Amino acid sequence: MTDLRQSQIFRTSKLEEADGPGLNPTGNPTMGDIIAARFSRRGFLKGSMASAAIAATVSPIAILAADEARAGAASAFDFPEVEAGVDADHHVAAGHDADVLLRWGDKVFADAPDFDPARQSEAAQERQFGYNNDFVGFIPLEGAEDRGLLVVNHEYTNEHLMFPGIVTIADGKIAVADATEERVNIEMAAHGGTIIEIRKVDGKWQPVLDAPLNRRITAKTEMRLSGPVAGHERVRTSEDPDGTRVFGTINNCAGGVTPWGTYIMAEENIHGYFLGELPEGHREAENYKRMGIPAGDYQWGNFHRRFDIGQEPNEPNRFGWVVEVDVQDPNSIPRKRTALGRFKHEGAESVVAKDGRVVFYLGDDERFDYVYKFVTAGRFNPDDRAANMDLLDKGTLYVARFDEDGSMEWLPLAHGQGPLTAENGFESQADVLIETRRAADLLGATPMDRPEDIQPNPETGRAYVMLTNNTKRDEANAANPRLNNAFGHIIEILEADQDFTATTGRWEILLQCGDPSVAEVGATFSTETTKNGWFGMPDNAAIDAEGRLWVSTDGNSPSDTGRTDGLWAVDTEGAARGTSRLFYRVPVGAELCGPCPSPDMTTMFVAVQHPGDGGDDWEGHGRPSYYEDLSTRWPDFRDDMPVRPAVVAITRQGGGRIG
Ligand code: FEO
Ligand code: CA
Ligand code: CA
Ligand code: CA
Repeated sequence: MTDLRQSQIFRTSKLEEADGPGLNPTGNPTMGDIIAARFSRRGFLKGSMASAAIAATVSPIAILAADEARAGAASAFDFPEVEAGVDADHHVAAGHDADVLLRWGDKVFADAPDFDPARQSEAAQERQFGYNNDFVGFIPLEGAEDRGLLVVNHEYTNEHLMFPGIVTIADGKIAVADATEERVNIEMAAHGGTIIEIRKVDGKWQPVLDAPLNRRITAKTEMRLSGPVAGHERVRTSEDPDGTRVFGTINNCAGGVTPWGTYIMAEENIHGYFLGELPEGHREAENYKRMGIPAGDYQWGNFHRRFDIGQEPNEPNRFGWVVEVDVQDPNSIPRKRTALGRFKHEGAESVVAKDGRVVFYLGDDERFDYVYKFVTAGRFNPDDRAANMDLLDKGTLYVARFDEDGSMEWLPLAHGQGPLTAENGFESQADVLIETRRAADLLGATPMDRPEDIQPNPETGRAYVMLTNNTKRDEANAANPRLNNAFGHIIEILEADQDFTATTGRWEILLQCGDPSVAEVGATFSTETTKNGWFGMPDNAAIDAEGRLWVSTDGNSPSDTGRTDGLWAVDTEGAARGTSRLFYRVPVGAELCGPCPSPDMTTMFVAVQHPGDGGDDWEGHGRPSYYEDLSTRWPDFRDDMPVRPAVVAITRQGGGRIG
């Protein structure tokens, strides 16, 4: 979800007109050239770098010094860069096609109704592709590379972009009419996930609408709690006295695909869906405060009592989990795997360790919250799918402490160890998991700048942590060195002995993001990075089959960075390390999620989320954007169609490996 509060921080970061768009995408000056030009104009240093923030970073001066050494460094990528900028359309690197594969409202089943934005219904939405696609995963079918299941999270809904006739503008701001029950039910059906078969026909991917495994999961789908919290008194409700049966999953942000081919949906900003007030003196008061519950962003609780904590006080303890879906059975009941903890789960990317145990990396996306990993107790069996189906119910959850000397420790969240005892209110492992954040507080975990997706590289024993930003940071630590960190950074974790189950490791900052030509920003992209290649606010990441890192962003805008969000290819190896280049950019108002390279690397699937949500600060619109007055009508560009979040398949013209 875009964090509106982050905007308008570093307006100075926009490149000067003199550095503005050129025509030849390969002839752009590198950041080294731009920085050199700046310093010769301004005079060397001149006090402009005196801020406390810069002292803790690698400065542009240091990068300049490394310029010669890096010149000619071999990048793992070879494509002509896209020009960074802002407009109503999306753009991909020359020589590639970006084809819209699935839009909000598209049929997921052959018998689904056609999308009619003026006459939406819950029943129609339950059969159609949901809103705000986020995580994208590809699960090959029968080993075929041109046939597979696409699994897609639908994180949340933007009512002002979805529904006609509900917005009024007062003082230049959008006001949305109170929700009706019908609207709430459509919103609930637009949440969750989609599982849909896709096939490549003549080099282009197509959805297969009559495929047997196609499925919509929504905020009403029946699920089970499993693992240590299942049945605990703190998850029992009046509708579920056993504390095992939950309806729906919400705010599924990033996610994962397990080595055994199940689909992971991570529940992130669950606090927004609850309203009301806890009964006086209720035991969950502190727990909910730590999670920001209730925020009342949605009005579901007015029509569904379980989202009103005054009426159903334990319901929020049934959300904030990692959900696992068996995609091979369209009637399977998804499991909320409580052993992986309860917090604002961004994603759950996994890797098989040397000894066969499986490790899941988990970010808790909140300012000053933590980086986690879960190590299964059992081992992955590649020859017996069924034997892996409950691996996520037993294992150890760890939280990360990043030390000043570049070492790190993974601290186990195990009941009875250290401070995690009855004395501190943890009667059992279930209590530790329900209040994961408080347990991690007591262990002394390192407070981070909003941990988003964490992507392991199976070949190197390293993992990449996207830290999107934290404009409230007024006390630095070594792993989060910038105060008022508007543009975020990426940490590389090096697990001890390249063993993903290790409880110790080392860490380095791969990149501090933002405009490298503005000294105060303290960005550390390599000098080979062009003015198109730098970015702010990393969010999702992928490692492709060749071990190359791809990063997508959430929060770049005309006023923040003078560019939209997009997908950047980032070198991590050799002299090119820290070089980034722009591969794809989204229409105004959108963030980019997904990225999912196909196993054969001929396709990059990406998810364009909340296009048209913004544009006030873009000269092409310059006012609030809503259903009747949109900053873009991507991807259809039809007057009778609203803007539509969509999954895009990027392929190379004439075939072959992308990027
Ligand atoms: Fe849903 Fe942390 O982004
Ligand atoms: Ca985000
Ligand atoms: Ca995200
Ligand atoms: Ca990822």
